[in-house]
Amino acid sequence: MSIVLIAKNRDLDPLKRALEALDPHIEVEIWPGVKKKDRISFAVCWNHPAHVLDMYPNLKVISSLGAGVDHLLSDPSLKEHHRICRVVTPSLGEQLAFYVLNAILNYRFHTASYVDQQREGVWKKHDTVSVSDCHVGILGLGEMGLSVAKHIKNAGYEVSGWSRSPKTISGIQTFSSKELGDFLKQTQILVCCLPLTKETEGILDLDLFQQLKDPSYLINVGRGKHLVEEDLIYALNTGTLTGACLDVFINEPLPENHLFWNRPGIYITPHIASVTDPEEAAPVILENYKRMLSGMDLHNEVDRSRGY
Ligand code: NDP
Ligand code: OXD
Repeated sequence: MSIVLIAKNRDLDPLKRALEALDPHIEVEIWPGVKKKDRISFAVCWNHPAHVLDMYPNLKVISSLGAGVDHLLSDPSLKEHHRICRVVTPSLGEQLAFYVLNAILNYRFHTASYVDQQREGVWKKHDTVSVSDCHVGILGLGEMGLSVAKHIKNAGYEVSGWSRSPKTISGIQTFSSKELGDFLKQTQILVCCLPLTKETEGILDLDLFQQLKDPSYLINVGRGKHLVEEDLIYALNTGTLTGACLDVFINEPLPENHLFWNRPGIYITPHIASVTDPEEAAPVILENYKRMLSGMDLHNEVDRSRGY
């Protein structure tokens, strides 16, 4: 039995080396150019091409190379018997938390405006947004959202969070499914850490933005399809939102002619809020591979009916 690593535009050699260093007996192949297709039982994928998984008749488990699994679950070639899991490493949540903290500070201190002003040689002060005008509300309190919530709370902000099931988290006010309105009306910096599912697609729309407390700002590190793009532009044009920091997009890379590139108030990063480290991912993948071989439950297995 062996593992195949599949990703477009990503160097998978470091991950292969890290897996082989942990277990010299392990067989790891990198797509394309897999020699023994019928030996593949475990695939590790990131944005894999459609139907590539059809090539492996003995495939049992498919692991996302990151925390998100929407790219796997949307693959029509997925079979009923395929089990899906994901790689969640401790640094993934920490990286995401620092990304969000940086976005909050950029918003508060008008970093983008000062960068523009420096280029133009303009000396002009803007009022810093006070901490008391920055109640942070986090959509999704899973591995990522919880890490963000704790780090932002430790940095001195009021933090609340929304999740499907009720939760108790020390120092953080929590809301569950039906309490979205109550959560939104006190939120000024909205951070989306949700997985993309049938229920969450398009959740970041005008109706939701209009329920936020003024002034409000959006940070989307979930998925591009959470956001209704035209509603963001409308919300910025009408002052419903003061700005947005976006790390994820419906189409990645963001197309060259996309409106977002040059829209003042939108700050863009190329899906780097948190990046899986091969050295950290290798033991997590190896553990699940061994679990599969021994017929044990997988770590971080995805509930396919729930979509995350
Ligand atoms: P988890 O599965 O650990 O957590 C998901 C959270 O979302 C849970 O709290 C869950 O609620 C909540 N949730 C799901 N559906 C709903 C719903 N319909 N209503 C309310 N709450 C809901 O996922 P992670 O935290 O690990 O990751 C979340 C997402 O973050 C990923 O799917 C990915 O899209 C994104 N991500 C982005 C990265 C980047 O670099 N930009 C890096 C890593 C992840 P409950 O707790 O009740 O189940
Ligand atoms: C993601 C990740 O899911 O990078 O976006 O892990």
